[in-house]
Amino acid sequence: MTKDNLRSIAKAIVAKQKGVLAADESNPTIKKRFDTIKVASTEESRRRYREILFTTEGIERYIGGVILFDETLRQATRDGTPFADLLSSRGIVPGIKVDKGAKALALHPEEKITEGLDGLRERLVEYKQMGAKFAKWRAVIEISERDIPTAFGIRANAHALARYAALCQELDIVPIVEPEVLMDGAHDIERCEVVTSMVLEAVFTELDAHRVLFEGMLLKPNMVVPGMKCARQESVQRVAEATIRCLARYVPAAVPGIVFLSGGQSAEDATDHLNAINMMGPHPWQVSFSYGRALQAPVLAAWKGREDNLAAAQKMFFKRCMLNGLARDGKYARAMEASE
Ligand code: 13P
Repeated sequence: MTKDNLRSIAKAIVAKQKGVLAADESNPTIKKRFDTIKVASTEESRRRYREILFTTEGIERYIGGVILFDETLRQATRDGTPFADLLSSRGIVPGIKVDKGAKALALHPEEKITEGLDGLRERLVEYKQMGAKFAKWRAVIEISERDIPTAFGIRANAHALARYAALCQELDIVPIVEPEVLMDGAHDIERCEVVTSMVLEAVFTELDAHRVLFEGMLLKPNMVVPGMKCARQESVQRVAEATIRCLARYVPAAVPGIVFLSGGQSAEDATDHLNAINMMGPHPWQVSFSYGRALQAPVLAAWKGREDNLAAAQKMFFKRCMLNGLARDGKYARAMEASE
């Protein structure tokens, strides 16, 4: 492990104005996204779609890193430039999703555990040779009305995240540690804050026990929000306050950056929340985005799989990157949504 190397990669990804594009949808997930615009998911349609994102002019001002899926890391532009090389040449750090998805946690009904640790060291060696400088592993924590999540479910997921992060750092790959408390359900914001607090506390305890260098990692948490089915939705300000209170208590200041997932929020809400959180700064860490849906849903809607929509799709993608780049420094206003 080279500490300076890890630190400088992590810092580059969350440099001023910048955040992360999560374009690492697995094949079943991207198929779901393509279904919404009636585009068949084939190796070529997935390649073309990612090429449209990665070749959008000007995004390097706002995008410090892109998370790729295994298939995408092996793909190239039409003229044969591997995507990892294209991104690197534009000053964007290529990363790779390395978990193998959340599966049922045995003997723990309703809870999940993320798989993918077996053989991970060998896979990381290959990904590094292909140009990946950072990685992502997502743990999924569901809140339900009964006593879910259990302390054991949280601990098992925190342990797996820490084993993954240690394997990454051994090879000088920056781990993005993603413990996602889902927005599904009818729970209120208070319950989300309690569960997110328990999860973050467990995650940093395990990371520490596994000797993970906090300075050489990034945290990708959920924001503290009410469940989507909760009757009491909250103002942007209340979400920002609850989120920062929770993070300030449980995320060590040594961590260089927090990059939020969007988790099902609308594109506009995700940007607005990020902005409000940054307006409450300065914070001990950079606070930015690692959005999947909040960056891409408007792009997919503009593209619809048609080459004649290419310019409109790229324009929309640039706009979302720019607005989130502004929000990440607390310089966004909702009125900017109306601008071209
Ligand atoms: P969303 O922003 O769509 O939640 O995706 C982020 C991500 O990478 C989930 O693992």
